[in-house]
Amino acid sequence: MSGEQYFPGLEGVIAGETAVSTIEGGLRYRGYAIEELAADASFLEVAYLLLYGELPTQEQIADFQTILADSAEVPQPVLDLIAEIPLHVSAMDALRTGISAVAHFDHQVDEDGTEANISKARRLLGQIPVLIAARHRLSQGLDLVAPDPELSFSGNLLQMITGEPPSELHERAMEVSLILYAEHEFNASTFTARVVTSTGSDLHSAITAAVGALKGPLHGGANERVMEVLEEVGAPAHADKWVHNALKQKRRIMGFGHRVYKDGDPRAEVLADYCKQLAGERGNFDLEEIADTIEHVVRTEKKLPPNLDWPSARLYHYLGLDIPVYTPLFVASRVTGWAAHVIEQAENNRLIRPRSKYTGPEPRPFAPLAKRG
Ligand code: CMC
Repeated sequence: MSGEQYFPGLEGVIAGETAVSTIEGGLRYRGYAIEELAADASFLEVAYLLLYGELPTQEQIADFQTILADSAEVPQPVLDLIAEIPLHVSAMDALRTGISAVAHFDHQVDEDGTEANISKARRLLGQIPVLIAARHRLSQGLDLVAPDPELSFSGNLLQMITGEPPSELHERAMEVSLILYAEHEFNASTFTARVVTSTGSDLHSAITAAVGALKGPLHGGANERVMEVLEEVGAPAHADKWVHNALKQKRRIMGFGHRVYKDGDPRAEVLADYCKQLAGERGNFDLEEIADTIEHVVRTEKKLPPNLDWPSARLYHYLGLDIPVYTPLFVASRVTGWAAHVIEQAENNRLIRPRSKYTGPEPRPFAPLAKRG
């Protein structure tokens, strides 16, 4: 093949077209700047925008909310399965299994076409918070909390996990984090979902595979690793020494760096403001001080700015959430972006099948087993 080009990790490669979002000139979902969406939209408006292509009217969002509330039911055999998964299994692995399992009860699982895909995506959007909360509460020996259709998406999600109705500030902070997590063009998990869809497979398979990709610490799994690091540091007085040591040992500092944002992740700045507010509410700025010190040193010494997972970890901590639910919360939001890409890929499909650069042995003769000794 002539004109072959190889870019490790597909860096800089345009691997397809999308109308869902762009990072050119700032992150925009279907043309709308994330800063404006984070300031004034609800997560459900953003979910609707991603799935349908336009922002909803008041009537459309009310209908959407009703449909979601109706779809939030998870079949009892799936809840039983979630309860049976051994406790050492991570919440992300249990959620991946839960999403794969609800597919068996979805009456449209093998139906393709945009309408069926939107219906399936809406059901998953309703079911995923139930799956996350169920796994979390069952693993702690707590009773399940029923979804409350009167609450916002985030209010309901937080109440189902913690058992407590959230304050207005907590609800909005969660809402903003979900808006910022919802979509990000051809990131690894979205690309995974598109590859699966390109083979003619179904939406639940694509989303299940995407969850597997998101779990990795270089991608969505980073938000849990960030909180572990902040806990490891422990106190503001230890932060400077900790980060210098970590850099000396050539450790990867979770929550820093990004494949496409080399000058800074615009999402991180929006969420950092909420972290300061939430720390102020608690009257304890220790975590903010630890984060500021590490950020200053990594920026200065490595020229690496923080990504979204850096503030989101402590934001979830301030909301009183346990570390194992952090990456599942990313799923609760990103399922909208994944589904939008699945729909787009299916509407204009061509099998995704790149080539590889061979690095194996030169051609050699085969010797039958009997002659190999
Ligand atoms: N800490 C220390 N060094 C780093 C980091 C980091 N977080 N990120 C990149 N580098 C260094 C890396 O060691 C390498 O140095 P050298 O050239 O001396 O070997 C150089 O920067 C380039 O790294 P790379 O891994 O080739 O760059 P990439 O564009 O493939 O990496 C990344 C992107 C996100 C995988 C990486 O920055 C990273 O591992 N960050 C930590 C994990 C993380 O926070 N992931 C969340 C990503 S954003 C949101 C999401 O997807 O959830």
